[in-house]
Amino acid sequence: MLKIKIEKTAHPKPKPTGPLGFGSVFTDHMFLMDYTADKGWHDPRVVPYAPIVLDPAALVFHYAQECFEGMKAYRTAAGRVQLFRPDKNGERLRSTHERLCIPPIPVDDFVQAVKALVAVDKDWVPAEEGTSLYIRPFTIATEAQLGVKASSAYQFCIIASPSGSYYPTGIDPVRIYVEDEYVRAAPGGTGAVKCGGNYAASLLSGEKAHRLGYGQVLWLDGVERRYVEEVGSMNCFFKIGGVIRTAPTAGTVLPGITRMSCIELLEGWGYPVSVAPLPIEDVMRADEDGTLEEVFGTGTAAVISPVGELKYRDRAAVINGGRIGPVTQRLYDTLTGIQYGRLPAPQGWITEV
Ligand code: COI
Repeated sequence: MLKIKIEKTAHPKPKPTGPLGFGSVFTDHMFLMDYTADKGWHDPRVVPYAPIVLDPAALVFHYAQECFEGMKAYRTAAGRVQLFRPDKNGERLRSTHERLCIPPIPVDDFVQAVKALVAVDKDWVPAEEGTSLYIRPFTIATEAQLGVKASSAYQFCIIASPSGSYYPTGIDPVRIYVEDEYVRAAPGGTGAVKCGGNYAASLLSGEKAHRLGYGQVLWLDGVERRYVEEVGSMNCFFKIGGVIRTAPTAGTVLPGITRMSCIELLEGWGYPVSVAPLPIEDVMRADEDGTLEEVFGTGTAAVISPVGELKYRDRAAVINGGRIGPVTQRLYDTLTGIQYGRLPAPQGWITEV
């Protein structure tokens, strides 16, 4: 159990008015906790939101020893504030820390820290339809040292941002470019953990996709550039001939918490779900023979996002006439229903703040 000090701001900021975008407005406070070899993780505190001052030689700037999580707090119609499976974010952060040689933060401490910040900034959790408080926990290596090594000092921070939908298109289908030149992850690399470097390496393809008029990139595997893996900010599902297929995480795909929850919901509803390598040619062939029924992405920020078009080399598959499909809609309604307290949640999915 952490003993968290709370220092409230003397200068609360005005809350945003009007439509919320994603991730550009921040609450009044942030959570901080430091790590040093002698003290371990120590000094957990909620303090006024402010810049972080670091030595220019801090290892995070040079060798990218950094990682993050993404989660949300939702306001229910009755005014309660709740988190969705925060323990799963804590578990994923722990496995990311392990891969990046960062000392672990116990899952219970992680959840307590998130709850402490959200409790202090509770008034910042927006109430309008489709909005939430996006929460961004992250860890950085702070030791000033230019030799390549695991840092001996870290800072763990949580910031929060009242946000609307991640895509400007909202729930309207996104158009996706299948990347067959660059790769996101290779076996043995860091594809299955949430480190900033994975995202830095994705930017060039993202820009290429935008230039060609597409919103996101679908990555293929790093060995054969043949099997579908994930989309820039979400995991990806394909409904082909009645079977819902998604890539195994297998060390190269991020184990999304929304992905996991969707698989559990779909299986509970009796849909056949196949978690197995899926060649992109099978997807394009399914489009040609009329069995590519639905494609959608899942993610904390993206929620459930229908995919309206997939562009692979010289072929373009238009899915379900570019409209959201029935399974995608059912998942969206059920997941958001649970998150916003309109529907009963499976055991352990909701943590009240
Ligand atoms: C999330 O869905 O929370 C993510 O972290 C994806 C993103 C890079 C916005």
